[in-house]
Amino acid sequence: ASVHALTDEVPTPHRIQDRNRPQPPAPRTGFINTPDTDPDLPGNRAWGRAIAERMEHSTLGSELVEESWVATEDELDTIMSRGAKAAASWQALTADERAEILHRAGDVLERKRADLLEVMGSECGKTLDQGDPEVSEAIDFAHYYAELGRELQKTNGAEFVPSALTVVTPPWNFPVAIPAGSTLSALASGSAVVIKPAGPAARSGAVMVEALWEAGVPRDVLQFVQLGERELGTQFISHHLVERLILTGAYETAELFRSFRPDLPLLAETSGKNAVIVTPSADLDLAAKDVAYSAFGHAGQKCSAASLVILVGSVSTSKRFRNQLIDAVQSLHVGYPWDQRTQMGPIIEPASGKLLRGLTTLGDGENWVLKPTQLDSSGKLWSPGVRDNVERGSEYHTTEYFGPILGIMTAGTLDEAVDMVNEIDYGLTTGLHSLNPDEIKYWMNHIEAGNLYVNRGITGAIVQRQPFGGWKKSAIGAGTKAGGPNYLVGLGTWRDAPVEP
Ligand code: ALA
Repeated sequence: ASVHALTDEVPTPHRIQDRNRPQPPAPRTGFINTPDTDPDLPGNRAWGRAIAERMEHSTLGSELVEESWVATEDELDTIMSRGAKAAASWQALTADERAEILHRAGDVLERKRADLLEVMGSECGKTLDQGDPEVSEAIDFAHYYAELGRELQKTNGAEFVPSALTVVTPPWNFPVAIPAGSTLSALASGSAVVIKPAGPAARSGAVMVEALWEAGVPRDVLQFVQLGERELGTQFISHHLVERLILTGAYETAELFRSFRPDLPLLAETSGKNAVIVTPSADLDLAAKDVAYSAFGHAGQKCSAASLVILVGSVSTSKRFRNQLIDAVQSLHVGYPWDQRTQMGPIIEPASGKLLRGLTTLGDGENWVLKPTQLDSSGKLWSPGVRDNVERGSEYHTTEYFGPILGIMTAGTLDEAVDMVNEIDYGLTTGLHSLNPDEIKYWMNHIEAGNLYVNRGITGAIVQRQPFGGWKKSAIGAGTKAGGPNYLVGLGTWRDAPVEP
């Protein structure tokens, strides 16, 4: 893989601790979140333009296979043995030495921010406003897990035994933060890693991995592969030397992987069908904006995206909120990430039958307030879709579509709305717009989801402050929340420390 040279060509952007991230350092670890780039500063506009101009159009959504990355069936054994062997030298370092390398990885990722943004736009259609916080998240994972790794070793009374080899299979939709988070967590725990990027995100994954190598993670400790043939996937995951599997993807994929090797501890973050409830006490202007952003940012291709908005009581019977929401959605500029006006980018995997069915046929007729329309011949650009009167118990209520469609439901009361959310099999993110403390309390105590957001968007969890992970069918296996204090614990086993003679 080639390291892009862009970082050296464009000036370093000005960065301020932006309004979404002000916070004191964490008391125990001293960890402080990395600020995003403020796009409104004049110097940063030129920086953004330079990145957008460098994005390649030809690689969007294509499954890149670089000869030098491809592992054949014969090579799989060698790769796994090399990783398992290298784990011993990685574990022979002190926790402080590993932490130092991981902190350096965070610094290299920061230095490569422009490269990462360029490649994420080129491959995965990420606009700069979506990609920039994602790079910050990857950097946060490096610094945060570096500190957690140090803490693991300090635990008294029991000894943490890391796995030798962890396989990481990330999704394409967060092409940097999710592969980085999974990889860095395993490395911080003391494990060696073999990472196989998602097809449409291979180059982004490679630039991220190169940053970690540059920071000093040995190449045998962190190996990067693409599989030449899809059938190799089964062998790859079920290889006997693999001791942990970190997977982010569809629930069905996680179940399939589990069936290959039922004994293998899995840390899987899976699907979501996420709803935002809006009550009559809400700031409706803010709610409309947050729902539109959560539903259509990155064209809804996030496990965390809003797929339903449930209007309660008078919000459901008046036209005001609906009109505001529709206005906001209609005003979104749909386009490619190299066009800086773009607020909703391309769909990368439109061929998925479920999504296409959702976009074209589901709820045909008067239920579409905004009917999604294909905007160009590539099949990648679609206008956002909004469907009203989604019926409780209908297919739309409970099915994940992973694309730019939002359904509107109505409920008489807050507790009815909460029941409607809890009837969904998944429980990843969920939101409430309400300014009434009693409503907020009721909702917090009864809603079934991993990440709860009050009066803000429901995507873009921030490391340490909003550890990320779901309940019910949104998670499988040993992992607790990514970017949270217990994540590394699932990456090894504990044994009682030997008693001093
Ligand atoms: N961690 C990502 C988010 O919160 C998926 O949107």
